[in-house]
Amino acid sequence: MEVDRLVEAVVNQNAQDKEALRTFVQGVAQGGVSTEDATRWLKAVHQHGMKTPDKVELTKTMIDSGAKLSWPAGKPVVDKHSTGGVGDKMSLMLAPALAACGYRVPMLAGRGLGHTGGTIDKLEAIPGFNCALTPDAMVAAVNEVGCCIAVQNEAIAPADGVLYALRDVTDTIDSVPLITASIISKKAAEGLDALVLDVKTGSAAFMKTPDEARRLARSMVETSEGLGIRTVAQLTSMDEPIGTHVGNALEVLGSVMVLQGKGSADTRELVVMQGSALISMSESNVSMGEARQRIENVLDNGTALEKFRAMCVQQGVEPDLAERLISSPEDVLGVAEQQTTVLANTDGFAVSYDGMKMAQMARKHGAGRFVLADKIDALVGFTIHATRGTAVSKNDPLFTFHHSRDLSDDEHKELRTMCRTGTKKPNHVPRLIEVIDSRSTKA
Ligand code: URA
Repeated sequence: MEVDRLVEAVVNQNAQDKEALRTFVQGVAQGGVSTEDATRWLKAVHQHGMKTPDKVELTKTMIDSGAKLSWPAGKPVVDKHSTGGVGDKMSLMLAPALAACGYRVPMLAGRGLGHTGGTIDKLEAIPGFNCALTPDAMVAAVNEVGCCIAVQNEAIAPADGVLYALRDVTDTIDSVPLITASIISKKAAEGLDALVLDVKTGSAAFMKTPDEARRLARSMVETSEGLGIRTVAQLTSMDEPIGTHVGNALEVLGSVMVLQGKGSADTRELVVMQGSALISMSESNVSMGEARQRIENVLDNGTALEKFRAMCVQQGVEPDLAERLISSPEDVLGVAEQQTTVLANTDGFAVSYDGMKMAQMARKHGAGRFVLADKIDALVGFTIHATRGTAVSKNDPLFTFHHSRDLSDDEHKELRTMCRTGTKKPNHVPRLIEVIDSRSTKA
């Protein structure tokens, strides 16, 4: 039987027969393979891993199960994927910034997963913003504006949806080759020339150690490059929340501030890092310094903000409201009914923020979901007044929790443990830990 031979190849770490693998995956997607056989193969891959050519073939088959965007000749088509973090709002700025540099960005994004926020939930905090675009509507939006951000849907790599559901019930979610094929198939279906991967590691990331993150990053770079997409992975630290705003509407606010050329330096640096990686991969004659300068320019001169406005209008936001959103975002996005501010209990410095504790508290109050049917409260989240390393005097505000429901005594106590202060200024720790590209995967 074909499945037996595929499983045997996986167990013996041999190459799987290309045609048999393709037929098998198509069969799984179309319901023509028994759950028992699919489970045997998934469990074997989970236990023994998969060779790069097999990952490329699996990913190709998943792409071929749905629509693939195609582009006329022109500027490079680029995108990024993040493995998920706290305050990770980069897509909201990166897509318009790259569009302002003349690139095409057909971004597919997801909703919050576990404690991490999702780009789509953030955009849906903007009244009228429609993320449900068909593949044709994505192409039309990108041709018109230069970028769009749409929710992952059944039209793109539907085999991934079927495999993911099976992985969920067979305890095989946390398999590097299966995560790789799942993520890369959806990105490759966008018809990309270049892809940057933000692979996060730390206490508020899914991959807790750099080694785990490195393994996934290498696997995704190899597979994506195997499909002909120039790809770089940036390993970044995810212990502390990114920037000064966490939560759906609050992250839109923080993003608009960066697009206005102001806002959090931490947030801006990640956008510049990701955008410049895509530019220097796409244009071999452009140095990293020049690529950085291009992204910085569009953040400073208002053209990225203008692209963001145009993207909002293209995706259903009333033109007047989009105009107000980019000039006075607080008026459009609203504020939560209650604010609880934590004050410094001593003179000194803000030493560290616990991203995981903050994310868990925000999720409990409606910033994220526990089950699919949960309704998001877009206004819940945090604003950070004294970022890591900032000097504070006793009773200065450290951060504010924005919420709708009253806090219990335990929650008040928990809030006070989220920022550590001390008398010694902490060293600056850059977010970027390591860059992994096609050269490092060959090493
Ligand atoms: N995100 C995906 O899209 N797929 C995975 O398998 C894991 C994270």
